[in-house]
Amino acid sequence: MSQADLMVRHVNLPDGRTDVDVAVRDGRIVEIGAALPGTAHETVDGQGLLLAPPFVDAHFHMDSTLSLGLPRLNQSGTLLEGIALWGELKPLLTVEALVERALRYCDWAVARGLLAIRSHVDICDPRLLAVQALLEVKRQVAPYLDLQLVAFPQDGVLRSPGALDNLRRALDMGVEVVGGIPHFERTMADGAASVTLLCELAAERGLRVDMHCDESDDPLSRHVETLAAETVRLGLQGRVTGSHLTSMHSMDNYYVSKLLPLIAQSGLQVVANPLINITLQARHDTYPKRRGMTRVPELMAHGVNVAFGSDCVMDPWYPMGSADLLEVASMGLHVAQMTGQQAMRDCFDAVTVNPARILGLADYGLAPGCHADFVLLQARDPVEALRLRATRLAVWRRGRLICETPPATARLNLPGRPAEVNWLRA
Ligand code: FE2
Repeated sequence: MSQADLMVRHVNLPDGRTDVDVAVRDGRIVEIGAALPGTAHETVDGQGLLLAPPFVDAHFHMDSTLSLGLPRLNQSGTLLEGIALWGELKPLLTVEALVERALRYCDWAVARGLLAIRSHVDICDPRLLAVQALLEVKRQVAPYLDLQLVAFPQDGVLRSPGALDNLRRALDMGVEVVGGIPHFERTMADGAASVTLLCELAAERGLRVDMHCDESDDPLSRHVETLAAETVRLGLQGRVTGSHLTSMHSMDNYYVSKLLPLIAQSGLQVVANPLINITLQARHDTYPKRRGMTRVPELMAHGVNVAFGSDCVMDPWYPMGSADLLEVASMGLHVAQMTGQQAMRDCFDAVTVNPARILGLADYGLAPGCHADFVLLQARDPVEALRLRATRLAVWRRGRLICETPPATARLNLPGRPAEVNWLRA
């Protein structure tokens, strides 16, 4: 083999391989194996830590992120006050402020090893300022982060006057995925009609679909059924995503036993948003309180591709968050009680390879021929990465080091005890 540009030696991989080397040339992985021969311009000793493909966020709102407190704080913390607050903020938005906040968020993302994001962008304001802004951000961050945009009619494509026209204009401008929000339309019938309309639009244009679907505690909110059926009718298998699907948490078990195979057969992909679902759902409950997240382990057991997304960070709906997909996956693990050995590894996949499939990312992963995009974590394996929400020691994009973070350690001053702790397993 000719000389590599970069060699990362002595790393563990998420698939369980240990102490392997990864060789990179011209921005791509050329070889992975134990004790690779040859030299490189640059060699990094991974010291038995985990090298993972980049984190991928399949569900985000970059037009509202980091706007917390504008024009006021969400006092109740509820979904509906959040939507109302976003309505108050929209007339005050400027392209410049949107770009500045989104770029700042992308800096946070890179520092967390998050290098691909699917963001919904609200198209209900006919000025389409957020679309303009995020298309500009997409262009600026392209060298280091893949930003995929969804035309999202937040107020309902049928319910909000002009929304369908705005949505078509957003697609014409370069937004690549068709969004929707059927449970927010005025009636169940309108919701189903919106699913049909939007899936037909995507099929006509050869685009993917990603709908906010059944983000409700109403067990009778069943738009996912229509979404799955339209996916099959229009031949969109593998290109349609149902986001949230929280009503499935509350549905009748007998109905779900019919629904799960229908979803699996349709090739519908699913995104749960654990941080948001656990805080926004079941707000009408007293006790016992439902958790509100969709049935993640059951969907996975049926072979459905499920990702965990972050949805919101510091915006009208959610005052927390920091672009940390390990925090998202950790919450998903807890809410879904996914503490079995394979289930924990599935949670790691739900913020890496699974969302990469949803976005349709080309040449993603740790294999020869893939882009040399990867993250060295201060953890030995995916389970430890989740437990520690591990520090991203180094982040590479196309073989170039784009971010470093010092290891998390603490200095002890205790008699007879070591001077340093780092929380890694022995
Ligand atoms: Fe969302």
